[in-house]
Amino acid sequence: MANSYRKGEGKPDVLNRCSRREPPVSIAALDPAITAATPLAWSPPPEMLALAEGEIHVWRAWLDGLSGCSRRFAPTLAPDELARAERFRFTRDKMRFVAGRGLLRLILSRYLGVPAERIVFDYGPRWKPRLGSASGRDLLHFNLAHSDGLAVYAMTRVGEVGIDLERVRRVSESKQIASYFFSERECAQWRSLPACLQTEAFFNCWTRKEACLKANGEGITESLKQVEVSLIPREPAQLLCLAGDPRAAANWLLQALTPALGYVGALAARLEHSK
Ligand SMILES: CC(C)(COP(=O)(O)OP(=O)(O)OC[C@H]1O[C@@H](n2cnc3c(N)ncnc32)[C@H](O)[C@@H]1OP(=O)(O)O)[C@@H](O)C(=O)NCCC(=O)NCCS
Repeated sequence: MANSYRKGEGKPDVLNRCSRREPPVSIAALDPAITAATPLAWSPPPEMLALAEGEIHVWRAWLDGLSGCSRRFAPTLAPDELARAERFRFTRDKMRFVAGRGLLRLILSRYLGVPAERIVFDYGPRWKPRLGSASGRDLLHFNLAHSDGLAVYAMTRVGEVGIDLERVRRVSESKQIASYFFSERECAQWRSLPACLQTEAFFNCWTRKEACLKANGEGITESLKQVEVSLIPREPAQLLCLAGDPRAAANWLLQALTPALGYVGALAARLEHSK
């Protein structure tokens, strides 16, 4: 059902362990209403969710299919989340936010064994959400990302986790963005690729960097250049260097994800046992 990493086993290469027909991550189809609303269902999760010590579970959900469920999700949201939902100008964005946070609460509630509305979030200095101490901060790390109606969630106890996804699309300013945010090595590798691979490689690079920075709670900053990653399509995701230190990568897990056709994603975790 999900990706897993066990302490002492070395870093996993989960994609190699999955057959091509079996997606490496699982769908957040938690009840029949959500299953019916989800066009590309992956394997549904078991009724009882257990997150073993060394595992990372990754979920995905189509938020537009779920937005009809917002009447059900809205009552589980905290006042600050509802206020944020109200600030969206377009109904679709508001619905996606409510569905995204509602699902986050629903997934967390299954792991923590508490009702979704009782989960309390607090926020890091750059707004990374985490569990408030009363909700079991020490028990579970999580992160989420959304792009164009698709959301992914990562849940783990191995350490701080970050996840990112993007719909692969033509970016007219990709050259300028690459020269501003990619390292010299990344830029050179990206430019050397045939044009037909450059768009996917661009998003590989972007999502891998962003996943690492989201694990740290930083988000997109000038530090993007400091996180050097592999980017060539169909080659393994690798963190090559962090703030000029290639050895720092040994403390991290970086995994490429294919959340759906036409999307690329990345999962990054800082492995606490190696601190
Ligand atoms: C985190 C960040 C990279 C997300 O960028 P994005 O591509 O628009 O969004 P993504 O889909 O990847 O991720 C969004 C989710 O990441 C989480 N998130 C927010 N800030 C985060 C951070 N600093 N670190 C990790 N995760 C974060 C949230 O759960 C958010 O979803 P939600 O609020 O809808 O629940 C970007 O918001 C950022 O750089 N933030 C830090 C900079 C900052 O302080 N911005 C001011 C915000 S007011």
